[in-house]
Amino acid sequence: MTEKDFISTNLDTSILKEGKYTWKTPSNIALVKYWGKKKNQIPENTSISFTLDACFTLTTLEFSKKQNEKGSFEIYFEGEKKDEFKPKVATFFERIKGYCPFLTEYDFVIKSRNSFPHSSGIASSASGMSALALCVMSIERLISTEMIDDYFYKKASFLARLGSGSACRSIKGSIVVWGDHKEIKDSSNLFGVEFSSEVHSNFKNFHDTILLVDEGEKQVSSTVGHQLMYNHPYAQERFKQAEENISKIKEILKSGDLKAFTNIVESEALTLHSMMMTSKPYFILMKPNTLKIINKIWEFRKETNLNLCFTLDAGANVHLLYPENEKEEVSEFVINELIQFCQNNHYICDRVGLGAKLLN
Ligand code: PMV
Repeated sequence: MTEKDFISTNLDTSILKEGKYTWKTPSNIALVKYWGKKKNQIPENTSISFTLDACFTLTTLEFSKKQNEKGSFEIYFEGEKKDEFKPKVATFFERIKGYCPFLTEYDFVIKSRNSFPHSSGIASSASGMSALALCVMSIERLISTEMIDDYFYKKASFLARLGSGSACRSIKGSIVVWGDHKEIKDSSNLFGVEFSSEVHSNFKNFHDTILLVDEGEKQVSSTVGHQLMYNHPYAQERFKQAEENISKIKEILKSGDLKAFTNIVESEALTLHSMMMTSKPYFILMKPNTLKIINKIWEFRKETNLNLCFTLDAGANVHLLYPENEKEEVSEFVINELIQFCQNNHYICDRVGLGAKLLN
């Protein structure tokens, strides 16, 4: 598919005066990371993620035929009017309006909330943008003569990508690939696709316990971080390595080799942060407690031979990934040894989920 396939035509807005849609969309955690992009949110390399379940955004989009020429929108977050969120959403609407021209005919009220604390350091842009994209697609479906599910979800992912790259992986579950990769069937730079190859039962019901090391706002946004990959001395090697890691993880997901999984996933997390530490200007998003947790995990693995591994987002929080049959031992380890490193002892128990859900 090309970008042109996502430009909607022949829509009849005369039948639709007002309405509202609510979508619940999950966050996701990348196993092979996206870090570096081309124009229009096209990724420099393929990425793959687990869709989460407990960390989600719930968004209602109310729409009514616009009152004046200009059109308007309001945003409420957790019950409060949030004008500071407007620029990001305005940019999103601006980017997608060429693909969804009907948007210019309505006024909107967006009401949103997250299941995780707003200041937890968990990126809410993935779940937030995917929720909004799905609400927009629900309107488009209503005024289209026909739309098959496949197109609905592909275009939702395509639109979400224009809001925040990784958001395109927050539509479907439970494993999603984004980026054109020769070994992944139907993969695309334009939208995320469900990983359709065989997945070993070891990866079913996989857990992600998120240790909230630093609940504050990030010092460097991912937008700036992506830009710093432009003149990065190691960028080309990194993009190549990510493509190779996708090929490797595809085999690992099939074979169920948890040791090999740990190797790739932890290396990807540390490589992401090495890119930050070696860009110009350089920066560090990990905190001392991030490293303490990593060392504890390595000790724990040596002692127990279990398969607990970690990954990191663009922040200090640590995601603990482990299979269902090790959850008792890991839970004990988290409570006894790791929560002392979390801010206010906060952590979130999440697991791999099934993707976004329409609530009305
Ligand atoms: O979607 P963005 O622009 O916020 O970038 C997200 C980048 C990482 O979370 C660090 C990696 C990833 O693939 O999710």
